[in-house]
Amino acid sequence: MQSNTPSRDSFSGKFGIIAAAAGSAIGLGNIWRFPYVLGENGGGAFLLIYLAFVLLIGVPVMISELLIGRSAQKNVFGAFRKLAPGQHWYMIGVMGVGAAFLILAFYSVVAGWTLHYVYLSITNALAGNTPDEMIAVFEGVQSSKGMSIFWTLLFMGGTAFIVRSGVEKGIEKYTKILMPLLLLIILILNVRSVTLEGASAGLDFLFNPDFSKITPDVVLEALGQAFFSLSIGMGVIVTYGSYIKKTESLGGTALSVSLADTGIAVLAGVAIFPAAFAFDMAPNQGPGLVFVTLPNIFNQMAGGYLFGLMFFVLLSIAAFTSSISLLEVVVAYFTEELKLPRKKGTWIAAGIMSILAVLCALNGSVFGAFDYISSNILLPLGGLLVVVFVGWILQSKLTRAEIEADGKKAKYYRGFVFIVKFIAPIAIALVFLNGLGWI
Ligand code: PHE
Repeated sequence: MQSNTPSRDSFSGKFGIIAAAAGSAIGLGNIWRFPYVLGENGGGAFLLIYLAFVLLIGVPVMISELLIGRSAQKNVFGAFRKLAPGQHWYMIGVMGVGAAFLILAFYSVVAGWTLHYVYLSITNALAGNTPDEMIAVFEGVQSSKGMSIFWTLLFMGGTAFIVRSGVEKGIEKYTKILMPLLLLIILILNVRSVTLEGASAGLDFLFNPDFSKITPDVVLEALGQAFFSLSIGMGVIVTYGSYIKKTESLGGTALSVSLADTGIAVLAGVAIFPAAFAFDMAPNQGPGLVFVTLPNIFNQMAGGYLFGLMFFVLLSIAAFTSSISLLEVVVAYFTEELKLPRKKGTWIAAGIMSILAVLCALNGSVFGAFDYISSNILLPLGGLLVVVFVGWILQSKLTRAEIEADGKKAKYYRGFVFIVKFIAPIAIALVFLNGLGWI
């Protein structure tokens, strides 16, 4: 229990925090979205820009969000209202809660596909398919609306079930077991993928940058992907930060979570591209990449039935640990600001999200719009406002005290301040406006 506000739920310790925050960060964004966005945006050059954004902007934004949450001890809306009373900074919280609705809506559709693939794996329905048949299966999964809605709602229900139990007994308990397992499976897949014949073309695509592919839009995609993947710019990290005890290091947490997240994204790329090239499949086939390419590898490997099943189970788990963080943003807001009991707040939030999710399942353009608006507009804008808030509005005494609340001097403090005051706001604003074609 936290000493200053004994009634607030919290994570029990370091491993719990990192598992929960990395659980939020690591998800469909790493394994499903990252490889296909990279595939559509030129491969290696995209990877380099992405890495630069994670380190230069992602980590400082994450530290900023953690410190806002922990010092305020509130949900994302309440936190800004408490730290800047009488000002309009709480609008960041409003945007964050809105983004949570949009993201979870399309996210649960993809998670629904993942659950469907667990079912297909159990029944061995993918065995023996040619690559073309694999594509047909995936198209079938998307076009059968009833099925899509069924799996999407099942996923939403599962998410609500965990969130309703609270932070330590719900979120932390599950993520602690599930995240290490995910790492193990992805490592096994890496070994299989890179030892396939013809794998090196895929490694080339991933690691050899071709800068002619870079346009302002690609740079915005990389920024949006970094924000999406790190779960920053919309309040998840502020909310989780509010559950972290004062004795924990915020800089260390942000760095570990960001590195884990980036590591898993790169490993997902190494699992997928060599296999895609080995099977002569285009790397830029969009959202189907993970649902088409990987089952092909499973068909080729000894024990493929088991690995395929494990992979989709784990992908579902990665999706759950992220979706619970999205739902938690809204539930923390409902319980603290609207004073709803936790269980009721959880079901109401999940109910509204389910309606939006069904819209996404039924209509590909709604799906695409929710994804674009949240990842490429709301998250970068949220991140921009967060760094401006921490760099220019919050008193530096408070910022420093919060970062050093664990009793250790933060040697990186000056660098951090320089980035959040100047580098990050300018970089985010330039990429953002340029990507939208406004400058
Ligand atoms: N980071 C998650 C993923 O990569 C998605 C997410 C985005 C979760 C924003 C929370 C907030 O899958």
